[in-house]
Amino acid sequence: MEKITTGDGSETLFSLKFQETYHSKSGAIEEAMEKFVVPCKIAEKAKNQKAVLLDICFGLGYNTAVALDVIKKNNPNCEVEIFALENDEEVLKNLLLLSPKIESFPLIKKMVSEFLETKKTVKKENVTFHLFLEDALDSIKKIEKNTVDAVFLDPFSPKVCPELWSQAFFEDIRKAMKDNAILATYSCARVVRDNLKAAGFRTEDGPCVGRRAPSTIGYPIVHPSDELYTEVAQ
Ligand SMILES: C[S@@+](CC[C@H](N)C(=O)[O-])C[C@H]1O[C@@H](n2cnc3c(N)ncnc32)[C@H](O)[C@@H]1O
Repeated sequence: MEKITTGDGSETLFSLKFQETYHSKSGAIEEAMEKFVVPCKIAEKAKNQKAVLLDICFGLGYNTAVALDVIKKNNPNCEVEIFALENDEEVLKNLLLLSPKIESFPLIKKMVSEFLETKKTVKKENVTFHLFLEDALDSIKKIEKNTVDAVFLDPFSPKVCPELWSQAFFEDIRKAMKDNAILATYSCARVVRDNLKAAGFRTEDGPCVGRRAPSTIGYPIVHPSDELYTEVAQ
């Protein structure tokens, strides 16, 4: 892994194995906020007593860290439960060496550090942190159905990691989500949107940040009329 500085001054890594960066080169923190936290309406979800986040491909933890900042700002009393799926211990160790300008990042470091020592769920302040250090295809099946409020879907691209963009995986994600939960991902690839739809989501364009193409927001289809809305919206 090589460290690189992105357009907003925040650091990310380049994966030699996947030949891709962990974040958009235009700005790692900007991407976490604009492509994941804002589309998932974290500020709104924080107004509830509890928010449950599913961070798929946790990596350096920027998406969760930015979400925690937004939750704290909007409701410091909100209880937060995080399910973080990541299969590479090395990236977690690398995270401990970074200090991006995200207020909650020191908390992420403490929780990851304690997890690496104990391999158990970590509780700090009002946050419960479950890290699954294994293939996300397996860990997604361990999350209780109908519990998650927001999903950050952030694997490497469909070209190099197709299994994490498959209909079968999306079906498992859908099962973990509440009916009013929101999924956000940076990709707008045709195969991603087709598989999301086949797995029971309607999709919408997310923001265009750092490139011309939009990201994607997925909403569980609960009533047949939700599906019609997709056709009109796109
Ligand atoms: C694009 S990076 C994620 C960036 C991350 N969300 C962040 O904010 O730093 C993709 C991550 O997926 C992880 N990964 C790749 N294949 C995986 C798998 N099958 N299961 C779980 N994690 C996986 C990689 O180790 C890497 O950390």
